[in-house]
Amino acid sequence: MAPSALKVGIILGSTRKARMGERVARWIHRLAVARGDLDVELVDLKDWPLPNYEDPVGPKQAELSYTTVVERGWVAKINGFDAFILVTPEYNHGYPAPLKNALDHVYSGWNHKPVAFVSYGGSSGGVRAVQQLRQVAIELQMAPLRDEVNIPFVSRAFDDAGEPHDAFHGRRAATMFDQLTWWTAVLKEGRAAHPVRPPQRNSLHK
Ligand SMILES: Cc1cc2nc3c(=O)[nH]c(=O)nc-3n(C[C@H](O)[C@H](O)[C@H](O)COP(=O)(O)O)c2cc1C
Repeated sequence: MAPSALKVGIILGSTRKARMGERVARWIHRLAVARGDLDVELVDLKDWPLPNYEDPVGPKQAELSYTTVVERGWVAKINGFDAFILVTPEYNHGYPAPLKNALDHVYSGWNHKPVAFVSYGGSSGGVRAVQQLRQVAIELQMAPLRDEVNIPFVSRAFDDAGEPHDAFHGRRAATMFDQLTWWTAVLKEGRAAHPVRPPQRNSLHK
């Protein structure tokens, strides 16, 4: 992989015991690696036990001086990526709380970067969770991609080797990756050509 490769974080949003999300995330990670044009890393929120967001100021300020190792590490981890794929289940027509907490902990590191979605769940395939995430992404100044992957009835969607029974999901993933590669390259060049002023500490910040 060339050092200039586009760095993509695949964030697994479910932290539940015996979760199906691991299977989905590993599959999408394998597809991403196989393309050869992306430098991908699977980021499991289970490995990032962030505290609930309790800072007296918003993340734009708070991310400059978190005191816990995990929060500081999380900010650095997200800052290092050029794009993201959020792998999310659907919980009560939304997405899991740990995923929101992880999104809320960072601000600048999400800005001006593309985000793609891979969802799963029951009959809806998690589309309602993705619709909510799209709104969050806009607020974080991300560029949400049009094409997404939605896997219904996830508990019976994969074979023992971890491949989906329905080849349609792989074809949708290919379209999503094509869009992600284009947006990631373009926005990376754009960020370099037109640097954004970093947030400044304000008087509220301790
Ligand atoms: C708290 C909770 C709420 C759920 N709500 C929905 C839902 O609204 N729609 C849906 O399609 N599936 C729903 N499900 C089923 C999940 O999508 C399914 O269990 C999936 O495997 C969860 O992802 P995970 O195993 O990676 O945690 C729910 C599951 C849980 C645990």
